[in-house]
Amino acid sequence: MRLIVQGEGPESRSNSPAEWCYSAAMITVIFVEADGTVMNCQGEVGQTLMECAVGAGVTGIIARCGGGLSCLTCHCYPSGEKVVALPEPGADELEVLPFVNGYRADSRMACQIQLSAEMDGIEVRLPESQLNDDLIED
Ligand code: FES
Repeated sequence: MRLIVQGEGPESRSNSPAEWCYSAAMITVIFVEADGTVMNCQGEVGQTLMECAVGAGVTGIIARCGGGLSCLTCHCYPSGEKVVALPEPGADELEVLPFVNGYRADSRMACQIQLSAEMDGIEVRLPESQLNDDLIED
């Protein structure tokens, strides 16, 4: 298992009070790739889980459509005790979820989940692949 901690290097620290306030609105999101790689990432309250993953370089989230709920490549499995803080999936998300690769009852689309302070420390597991071979035409 490899552990990567994002945003804790000296380059991420600032002496600016404005940025101290900005930091107060950050939470930790723990992404676990299918190969077991763990990435502790900092996400801004209000941004989406997908934006957090893409910004941190999490390779298991592709997010081709940029959050438009049309590419199905931001599929994830939020887990652990913090899942109770997640908003319920909306009708549009529920409609597309059965078509994601590796669909399970706990599947979610990362672009539809807005980070909140209550989600601090949430674990998010990622599928083996984001690409659903059944939907790829020859
Ligand atoms: S980013 Fe395309 S469906 Fe979520």
